[in-house]
Amino acid sequence: GSPFFYYQDKQLFVEQSSVKALAEQFGTPLYIYSKAALVSAWHAYQEVIDTYQNVLVCYAVKANSNLAILNTFAKLGSGFDLVSGGELMRALKAGADPQKLLFSGVGKQVWEIELALNAGIKCFNIESIPELDLISQVATRLGKKAPISLRVNPDVDAKTHPYISTGLKENKFGIDINLAADIYAKAQSLSGIEITGVDCHIGSQITEISPFADTADRLVQLLSTLRARGIELHHVDIGGGLGIRYTDEVVAKPLDMVKIVKDKLIAAGFGELELVMEPGRSLVGNSGILVTQVQLLKPTEARNFAIVDAAMNDLIRPTLYDAYHGVLAVQVSDKASEIYDIVGPICESGDWLAKQRILALQTGDYLAIESAGAYGFAMANNYNTRPRAAEILVDGTQAHLIRERETVEQLFALERIV
Ligand code: LLP
Repeated sequence: GSPFFYYQDKQLFVEQSSVKALAEQFGTPLYIYSKAALVSAWHAYQEVIDTYQNVLVCYAVKANSNLAILNTFAKLGSGFDLVSGGELMRALKAGADPQKLLFSGVGKQVWEIELALNAGIKCFNIESIPELDLISQVATRLGKKAPISLRVNPDVDAKTHPYISTGLKENKFGIDINLAADIYAKAQSLSGIEITGVDCHIGSQITEISPFADTADRLVQLLSTLRARGIELHHVDIGGGLGIRYTDEVVAKPLDMVKIVKDKLIAAGFGELELVMEPGRSLVGNSGILVTQVQLLKPTEARNFAIVDAAMNDLIRPTLYDAYHGVLAVQVSDKASEIYDIVGPICESGDWLAKQRILALQTGDYLAIESAGAYGFAMANNYNTRPRAAEILVDGTQAHLIRERETVEQLFALERIV
């Protein structure tokens, strides 16, 4: 069990707050995050910082970009990994230190590059030669030098779901590590570019350490080649990707993963380089639940369906990745259990949140979908004209509304009848 989400007298609690009371007060579907869980997840990375000192952790904003979440991490000293001008504006709004901002992504646009240069971010992670040229041009026009890393593709198997694996040759991401040295040499000659690091990100929900070790080996080779050619870097960014426990996964701790990487860097004479990380899921995933209410029970010949008020628009991971999320009764019932498919009201067969779960359910019951803090609300949409859920941050007995529930009117407020 988690110390942040637990049962007391058959009632589910988030810290010292009753989930049922929150659901009644704020309505459902409702995302609830635990501040103590967020801080605890951060501490696993703080341990890395305390052990090795020269470490920068940049939370990957895409995993959960609510301002209150970003602000929580900013206050703990976190930097941020961004993939759009929108995320950059959010991070600044949430109090981020511009010197701790990274800009990743394969398709940065001119306005986004300008925004980042003017904010004075730490580094652009470059994914192609045309992008390198574009950023140099924009920087030169603004009379600046863009600090850059090349995001190299080390061609390692992250052993995760193909949709969230990014470090193989077949992926659109990164630059073939075998071509990187020549591209660094080219970058050196560009007026708007200042080489500061090397970057990679091999995938997401990685539970084993070995893919990171393989990556470190490849990075060390590249760093040695660069050193031989007189190119010295300031930092090594090993990306994000550490997984979380959704069901029974046993996941490596950040410190265990970093130790392997650091040992290899130190052994090869690159121990003094700053280590940068871009974790998303492992900082927020198990800090949040999605609370939903059973609308109807629909027994059919083949299946028992529990039709709930959350749907694939609120949490797309089950149907998009065939992802497993635990389902908890908010109030434990003494009634007999049955096997249910938990489905939403959307007109798609793919609109399901969980399949074949043993639960004792009645209409009106609340359910909590676990591990919903990462890529939950952040991937929510308005399909079927469904307002997105409210978000709550619980801190002990206090619950803060950190995003109001959308209204239906807001959903078509930008539309015009002609
Ligand atoms: N850095 C870069 C460049 C990334 O592309 C990502 C995630 C991260 C860091 C953070 O990775 P994390 O530590 O969260 O694994 N929507 C999918 C996950 C997509 C991950 C995309 N990139 C899901 O729900 O599983």
